[in-house]
Amino acid sequence: MTNQEWNGRGQTALMNNYGRFPIALVKGKGSYVWDANNKQYLDMVGGIATCSLGHCPEAVLTVLKEQAQTLWHVSNLYWIPPQIQLAENLLAGSGLDKAYFCNSGAEANEAALKLARKYFYRKKQANKTEVIAFEHSFHGRTMGALTATGQSKYHEGFGPLVPGFKYVPYNQLPAVEQAITENTCAIIVEPIQGEGGIRPADLTFLRSLKHICDQAEVLLIFDEVQCGIGRTGTLFAYQHYGVTPHIVTLAKGLGSGFPIGAMLTTDQVATGFAPGDHAATFGGNPLATAVAGKVMDIINQPDFLADVQEKGRLLREGIQKIGDPRVKEMRGRGLLIGVEFSAEVKDLISICMKKGLLLVGAGTNVVRFVPPLTINKTEINQALALFKEALKEWDA
Ligand SMILES: Cc1ncc(COP(=O)(O)O)c(C=O)c1O
Repeated sequence: MTNQEWNGRGQTALMNNYGRFPIALVKGKGSYVWDANNKQYLDMVGGIATCSLGHCPEAVLTVLKEQAQTLWHVSNLYWIPPQIQLAENLLAGSGLDKAYFCNSGAEANEAALKLARKYFYRKKQANKTEVIAFEHSFHGRTMGALTATGQSKYHEGFGPLVPGFKYVPYNQLPAVEQAITENTCAIIVEPIQGEGGIRPADLTFLRSLKHICDQAEVLLIFDEVQCGIGRTGTLFAYQHYGVTPHIVTLAKGLGSGFPIGAMLTTDQVATGFAPGDHAATFGGNPLATAVAGKVMDIINQPDFLADVQEKGRLLREGIQKIGDPRVKEMRGRGLLIGVEFSAEVKDLISICMKKGLLLVGAGTNVVRFVPPLTINKTEINQALALFKEALKEWDA
C-alpha cells in the first residue's frame, strides 16, 4: 500500500476531525520514522512531545513484551504492583504524596478539576467551585478540559460549556488577583503553554500564583501534560521555578507513546476523593504502568536530564545561527522549543516534510521542535541543516 492509497482509504473511513498530511507512517526507530513509500523522516514531532525515548526503544520494548506475557489488564478493584511502583517513583521525584492514573492528558485534567471541587465540598466549603484558567491555554478536549482551555476557537459550537470558569491573561498577576473570589477552588495553568505557542510562565508569576493560592485557599493545578517528564531538562517543569503545585497532571511523555495519564497531589488534597468518587476502567493498568515505570527509570536520571538541557541549548543556538530574518522570537526550555515567525508556518512545515524533517506548529506562526529526548547531536545537526534548506525555499 502506498501513501496515496492510505490517504484515499483514510479519507473514506475516518472522521474528518484531524487536518492530516497525505502520508501514512508505518515504521519507527529511534528519532526516525518511515512512510508507506519507504521515505525516511527525522521526527522532531515525536507524536507531539510524546515519544520521549524515540520510537520502539529497546529497553522499554523488553518490559512491554515481558508484561504483555504476564498480565495486561485487571481492574482497580485490586492492587496493581506496577501501578504502585510507578506512583512511588513519580511521587519521589515530585514532592507530592498521592497518585491517580488514567489514560490521557484531558482525563488527567478532568480528574484534577473534579478533585478540586470535591475537596472543598468535603470540607463543607461547597461554594468553592470556580476555576481560573488562562488565555491561550490548552488542557484537552473533554468538556471540563475543553472549558478550561482559554481559546475560543476550540469552544465554538460545543456550548453550553461547564459553568464556573474564568479566563485571565497569562503572566499577569493583577488579573488573577482581581479574578479570585471566595468561590474560587482552583487555578489551572501550564508552566509552559504548549499548544498556545510555547510560552513559558515568568518566574515571579508562577511563584506568586502559589503564594496567592495559599493565602486565598485555592488549589494550584499545574498542567504538565506537555512540559513534564523530562521535556524541559528537569523531571517536572515546575522544578525550574522552585514551586510545587497542589496538583500536577501528566500524560504524553510519561508512556513514551504508550497511552497513560496521571494526576499527583498532596495528602491533604487527596482526601477530596473517597472510593467511588472518580475512576477509569483502564487507568493504571499493569501494561501501561509497567511501560511508564521503565520510561521513568530512564528519564529520571541526572545525566539524562542534563543532556536534555544541553541538546536543547544546541538546537536553540543552531536555529539562532541560521539567522532567518523572519524569526520574531524563540521560546521554550530543554527540548520544548517554539520558533515564532512573522508569517504563517503551514507551508514551511510542508516544505520540511518533503525534505524529510517532521515538525509541528503551535498556533499559526510558531514552529515547534519537540523531538524524542534521546535525539543525538548528529541528528540535531541534520535537523538544523534540513530546516535551513527549507527556510531558503519558503517564500513567506
Ligand atoms: C498542556 C496539555 N494539556 C492537555 C492536553 C490534552 O492531552 P490529551 O490529548 O492526551 O488528552 C494536551 C495535548 O496536547 C496538552 O498539551
